[in-house]
Amino acid sequence: MDKIVSLCRRRGFVFPSSEIYGGLGSSYDYGHYGVLLKENVKARWLEAMVREREDIVALDSAIVLHPHVWEVSGHVGGFTDPLVDCRFCKKRFRADQLDAAQCGQRPSKHPGEAPDCDLTEARHFNLMFETRVGPMEESGTKVYLRPETAQGIFINFKNVAQLARRKPPFGIAQVGKSFRNEITPGNFIFRTLEFEQMEMEFFVPPDEADEWYRYWIDERRAWYLRLGIRESHLRVRPHDADELSHYSSATSDIEYLYPIGWSELEGIANRGDFDLTAHTAASGTKLEWVDSGSGERYTPHVIEPAAGLNRSMLAFLCDAYDEEEVAERERTVLRLHPLIAPVKAAVLPLIPRDAAITEKARALYEQLRRSLAVEYDDGGQIGRRYRRQDEIGTPWALTVDEQTLEDDTVTIRDRDSLAQERIPIAGAREVLLDRLDEPWQSPKAD
Ligand code: GAP
Repeated sequence: MDKIVSLCRRRGFVFPSSEIYGGLGSSYDYGHYGVLLKENVKARWLEAMVREREDIVALDSAIVLHPHVWEVSGHVGGFTDPLVDCRFCKKRFRADQLDAAQCGQRPSKHPGEAPDCDLTEARHFNLMFETRVGPMEESGTKVYLRPETAQGIFINFKNVAQLARRKPPFGIAQVGKSFRNEITPGNFIFRTLEFEQMEMEFFVPPDEADEWYRYWIDERRAWYLRLGIRESHLRVRPHDADELSHYSSATSDIEYLYPIGWSELEGIANRGDFDLTAHTAASGTKLEWVDSGSGERYTPHVIEPAAGLNRSMLAFLCDAYDEEEVAERERTVLRLHPLIAPVKAAVLPLIPRDAAITEKARALYEQLRRSLAVEYDDGGQIGRRYRRQDEIGTPWALTVDEQTLEDDTVTIRDRDSLAQERIPIAGAREVLLDRLDEPWQSPKAD
């Protein structure tokens, strides 16, 4: 993990937030390549969930919702972690994860094991951030920053079902920020105070719920594999009965083998009719499906694939990170699937001082940037520029050299195989688009 964190910092993907003030634990800012990578992952998710399907529509609901939403959803009462404090070292721990925590004074021991440890009884601590709406602190209404995007979908069920003219089975997809006052954050962007979720609520006839639950587990697993995650590093883990959330009758996690071990990447839950029924009872608005022809009515059941965008990005980074020796030199390379790589191709003038070469290279760059995320790089030795692009994960580099001036060809260098070939400059765009279209498999060993 340290190597990933260091690469992300060095190349400006992700860095600690509020650094000039000493940082704020577990808040991160995303730099240029981090934004591009995150946007690409989000775009692939929206493409698979919305653009390529006729049965799912998009939504972008508010972050601050009516506070009743969170009472009815069970979050005010039950979205808690059990915590213990140590009166001696003043540190706070998850009561159910003491085995994985380090004692504040003797890191080789777990909390409670060192002679001076003095742990309190476990207390429940709500993970929702509170704030107020209104000009006066005292009279304002207490509201919450949403801890999941899902509730914004449930409370809009009636609007969307009518406007989108869809009948179950159909889904509503949303990507957006969620906030949790995590007390044991850490592990870089794996668990943070604010993060983006990619959630889809799929509304189905009750007797089809099991079938759709299994369907979405397979679909979501296949999505990660299509984007290059190695099969050996992905697994599906069904929850035991005592792990299930209050709303769920079945949940399976898609787990990735992060450097910290197997951990949740995405959860797929069968939420039954819990949410629509609860919001119907509390709001008086019937959140049900009514067939205008037959008059049949029922409350749909919900299958929910809920993924974390930042956590997915971390999995893609971990899976892509590689080091190898080439010509007796170490190279670090991000073997990202080309479709999510922040930059698809770099255009490099071999001799930046040569005006004719630079002019050709700039012209190629200007032409390519209209349809692809490309970068022009003329800073430093060609070897250093290749290494920089390798660390960003750029799949192809196009080098303009003296031969280009004679025959209008450029070399195209492949990030993974390091193979170089000459192609006509006029066909460079098509070559890149064709290669982007090809299925891709990680060349990294398991
Ligand atoms: N609506 C269901 C729900 O929110 P969840 O398992 O709590 O389920 C879904 O969250 C996904 O959101 C997780 O699988 C994870 O990828 C991501 N996630 C949750 N808490 C996170 C945090 N503190 N930091 C980063 N990602 C988080």
